[in-house]
Amino acid sequence: NPQRDYDLSRPINLDGVGLRQKLTSYGDAHFSLFMRKLFIKAMGYSEDALSRPIVGIVNTYSSFNPCHANIPQLIDAVKRGVQLHGGLAIDFPTISLHESFAAPTSMFLRNLMSIDTEEMIRAQPVDAVVLIGGCDKTTPAQLMGGISANKPIIHLVTGPMMPGSFKGTRVGACTDCRNNWATFRAGGLDIEDISNLNEELAPTAGTCGVMGTASTMACLLVALGMMPIQGATPAAVSSARLRIAESTGVHAVQLTQSRLAPQTILTRESFLNAITVLQAIGGSTNAMVHLMAIVNRHPTLAGTVTPATVDEIGRRTPLLVDLKPSGNNYMTDFHNAGGMPALLHQLRPLLHLDALTVTGHTLGEELSKVSILTLPPDHPANCIRPFTAPLYPSSALIVFQHGNLSPGGAAVLKASASKDRRLIQNYRGRAVVFHGSADLAARIDDPALDVDADSVLILTGIGPVGNPGMPEAGLIPIPRKLAAQGVQDMLRISDGRMSGTAGGTIVLHVSPEGADPGSILGVVRDGDVVVCDAETRELSVEVDENELRDRLRRRREEMQHRAASAVAAGNEDGLEGTLEPWVARDRLRGYRGLYMREVNQAEHGADFAFLTAAGPGPAPRSAR
Ligand code: FES
Ligand code: MG
Repeated sequence: NPQRDYDLSRPINLDGVGLRQKLTSYGDAHFSLFMRKLFIKAMGYSEDALSRPIVGIVNTYSSFNPCHANIPQLIDAVKRGVQLHGGLAIDFPTISLHESFAAPTSMFLRNLMSIDTEEMIRAQPVDAVVLIGGCDKTTPAQLMGGISANKPIIHLVTGPMMPGSFKGTRVGACTDCRNNWATFRAGGLDIEDISNLNEELAPTAGTCGVMGTASTMACLLVALGMMPIQGATPAAVSSARLRIAESTGVHAVQLTQSRLAPQTILTRESFLNAITVLQAIGGSTNAMVHLMAIVNRHPTLAGTVTPATVDEIGRRTPLLVDLKPSGNNYMTDFHNAGGMPALLHQLRPLLHLDALTVTGHTLGEELSKVSILTLPPDHPANCIRPFTAPLYPSSALIVFQHGNLSPGGAAVLKASASKDRRLIQNYRGRAVVFHGSADLAARIDDPALDVDADSVLILTGIGPVGNPGMPEAGLIPIPRKLAAQGVQDMLRISDGRMSGTAGGTIVLHVSPEGADPGSILGVVRDGDVVVCDAETRELSVEVDENELRDRLRRRREEMQHRAASAVAAGNEDGLEGTLEPWVARDRLRGYRGLYMREVNQAEHGADFAFLTAAGPGPAPRSAR
């Protein structure tokens, strides 16, 4: 009886579910409820509807975001699931990030999206929240925000796109975008072909159809227990995707009763499972940064899972999934071969099956509930290899733990996507150094560039602060004159990131980044000998310590000098150039200033220090 809610003689408890959540500040409790009801009734809800637990649905639709194009249908299906099971579903927006339409880079905005997600979950009377996302930075941002808000959440991904077709060959975003572009650059495709390909590389709604960051994060959400185990692989445009959405709505209603929140569900074992899956799928290097950011949002797990953990688990985890860019297939093939349940089944010996999931059951229990499709190992459609006959024996992703070039311990290489193993076997090569993306673009194809097939290409200044957002510019192209000679792979090293859909022998996330005045990467010079050994996990530059110390000291002086002259000349804009971001950041306004002042290094997740579980803390900025 709604009249009871306004009976001033009866005490009212705003500690319940739905609109009765303790949230607000209208003064007295009766008036608070009265106000909330009168406003929400303008949406047409009845007293009956408003008496139900409320399942919020985060809507990240945008007409700029093809990876999220199916979200309106998914919301309908989630609502059906919620409302068939007695809840009230209410969708609300947060920002939408697509890789191609989030300048300077979507990673720059990931932390902003996590703040948006966290605060909207906190602000509204939701008892559980379905987080619908898909494109690369979305799912990590949502989980980071969700953990910090710590209300019950469940993930639903938009799902992968279908592959397209070009002259009888399947193609898909975005491994084939890069391969074909490289062929075009080397003169192997004409302009008509490359234009026709442009029509086919992303032929449907949904996330990139290979094992890029979006697919990787979807698989990791399953392994973490934050998404039901069949949720990762159904195509965005499939009916299976809509049924997953409906059942996600049902699980969300159950969450309003169990009240299982992410800080309770997630344990160290959940993260170890996620890393095992990351290695077994040959997942995106970006996932490593995201996982660190995610774990560091958790008050008791922060700091207990590091890039070293990823390396350690890799040593005993075989690569089982044959998907581009490490292998040959597409996400739809992975789905048709049994998807995550079939993979988890193969990985049983390595998994912590007693880890809890969002359904309230353990991963092992969930796995025993579904029928597992196992195709014969030699079946042509089988892109999930048996545990005993892997695609690659171990360490699809390796993390360089030793040597002077990346003492932060974040430098990572997707060894399984290397086209030339020689480049990581105690390899020594002469550095050719580029300072920032503009320098790279200006000189990489210069016929006079002093480079040969054995050189090591180094790109510095594209780290979290140096090029805010740490762009996916780590895929340094092979200089055109070498590509034309048939060189397909070279050792390339940077402090940036790379798309999960790309391949090659590419070391990423070097830390401290080159823009840091204390960074060794920042003082590597043309001609220095760089050593890279996947076996011993060593990444070094063979320059003696005194010389390095000397270079660092001179560099610091130069930076200070340039900053001082820019200020004296009233040219503070000059501070924001690629040379001085470390100095400029204290003077920049807005989100960019906030980002540059607060972002931590890759091994911590490139999150804002004040958002981590540790909070602002007294750590010196260079160590954050
Ligand atoms: Fe969205 Fe690739 S661009 S997943
Ligand atoms: Mg990507």
